Amino acid sequence: MLIFFFPSLQSFSLVLIVLAVRASGFMWTCLCSQDLREIVFVIQSQSNSFHVRQAERRRADLLEQAQSLTEKPPVVLLLHNLSDNEGDWSILPLLPYLSQSFGKNSSWIVFLEEETNVKMTKLVQVLGKFDQNKEWFLGKPLHDEESTIIHHYAFAENPSVFKYPDFSAAWALSIPLVVRLANKVRDEPLKSDFTIDLKHEVALYIWENGKGQHLTAVPELCTEPDDSPQAQHCATTLRSLPPLCGEPVSADDVFVAVKTCKKFHSERVPVVKKTWEKDALFLEYYSDHADPSIPTINLGVPNTERGHCGKTFAILKRFLSDDVPKTNWLLIVDDDTLISLPRLQVLLSCYDPFEPVCLGERYGYGLSQGGYSYITGGGGMVFSREAVVRLLKSGCKCYSNDAPDDMVLGMCLNALGLPVTHSPLFHQARPEDYARDFLAHQVPVSFHKHWNIDPIAVFNKWLKDDLRTTTAGGLNKSTKTEL
Ligand SMILES: *[C@@H]1O[C@H](CO)[C@@H](O)[C@H](O)[C@H]1NC(C)=O
Ligand SMILES: *[C@@H]1O[C@H](CO)[C@@H](O)[C@H](O)[C@H]1NC(C)=O
Ligand SMILES: *[C@@H]1O[C@H](CO)[C@@H](O)[C@H](O)[C@H]1NC(C)=O
Repeated sequence: MLIFFFPSLQSFSLVLIVLAVRASGFMWTCLCSQDLREIVFVIQSQSNSFHVRQAERRRADLLEQAQSLTEKPPVVLLLHNLSDNEGDWSILPLLPYLSQSFGKNSSWIVFLEEETNVKMTKLVQVLGKFDQNKEWFLGKPLHDEESTIIHHYAFAENPSVFKYPDFSAAWALSIPLVVRLANKVRDEPLKSDFTIDLKHEVALYIWENGKGQHLTAVPELCTEPDDSPQAQHCATTLRSLPPLCGEPVSADDVFVAVKTCKKFHSERVPVVKKTWEKDALFLEYYSDHADPSIPTINLGVPNTERGHCGKTFAILKRFLSDDVPKTNWLLIVDDDTLISLPRLQVLLSCYDPFEPVCLGERYGYGLSQGGYSYITGGGGMVFSREAVVRLLKSGCKCYSNDAPDDMVLGMCLNALGLPVTHSPLFHQARPEDYARDFLAHQVPVSFHKHWNIDPIAVFNKWLKDDLRTTTAGGLNKSTKTEL
């Protein structure tokens, strides 16, 4: 494969010719700067106001770069703004729309996150290497080292064979693939009810048990910081200076609720005490049994083996009552959640507590059939006071004490038309359950579950900061910039 560049001197108009030699003879394809309009960018945006601003900044950057190359700007879509269907974040429901709107006049759909930097000319070159008349699924591959619960233990014999895209590096579908997938989405709804790790599920759907497309690794789709020397060849990078939204939220503005039960008073609570409890100013343990040595509070809700809906709604009511200090933020965690409160305080500075904010790791239930999204409880659920006020005012409640609390809250929010806000920094599972390369470019806020790990060692390795200052729960500036 040969690639020629003819940059003209006056306006940098890139002409890229790809000469592909194939067994069947010669074939020419050309994706030139004039054809930027053949690329449709979809920013995987969210409707929370902070994320809207981030996504709009990303869109402005893409359009600005395009403008310096060509007079005709590409289409740049913000995913959250495409329809009223909140479940669009799961991408597949969007494919029929993308196929219908761009199936005839475009070549590529490029998906990116609001954090993804794009070097437009490089990206055009990279896409030009692929025959746009064929089906392509392009990205930066991730793989599992071990089979993992978040992927339903898929490929248990050899988990590393299956590759799925790191969304942070951007990923692309050629239009022929979009058109075929759109028909498939219309004909057969998704088999799985749950949307847990979208990037893996999208890759499985496209792979179709080997009958469809596998992910083609594109080395130019990267997650290196944009100023890193290793990023020279990259068409995408990650921001090296992530958003600093101001001073971290102070510790006295976060109320922490830990759900536990008698059975775990001696097993799990001591881990919280040895790791992150000291970072909380206001923290209460809620149990089915009052134990003054911890102390725990008995909310009068019997313990249940499975869901904790009754307990969680009692916590929401208590948060609004005069029995606890008045804070803008409520964090609800399990007794086996490991969390960095200083990092959470930094993150929360980006959000407006006077908006109804529900933040954490987003899962979906039945999204292809009008289901709902929810914050999965184990990684920690964060609510602004306003969100709690609206939830309780709506009269929404548990259908039983042992209903899954996080899912019921998701249903309630869906009924209220309030979105949940996703942060990939919260984790419902253990570090070993996520791809190593995925964790490599984030500063995590939480993990969950003690199964087969030493939770204190995991906390120290993944969530503890050595640079913490002694001032009101703040983080050292140099730590802040890593977030
Ligand atoms: C998309 O954004 C525009 C402009 O802010 C707004 O008028 C429109 O209602 C939004 N559409 C959806 C589906 O959110
Ligand atoms: C393709 O069609 C869509 C509408 O269906 C339009 O918004 C878009 O601008 C068109 N793209 C080009 C390159 O003409
Ligand atoms: C902040 O971090 C820098 C760089 O690691 C360190 O040298 C400095 O002592 C820290 N400041 C405080 C107040 O902890």
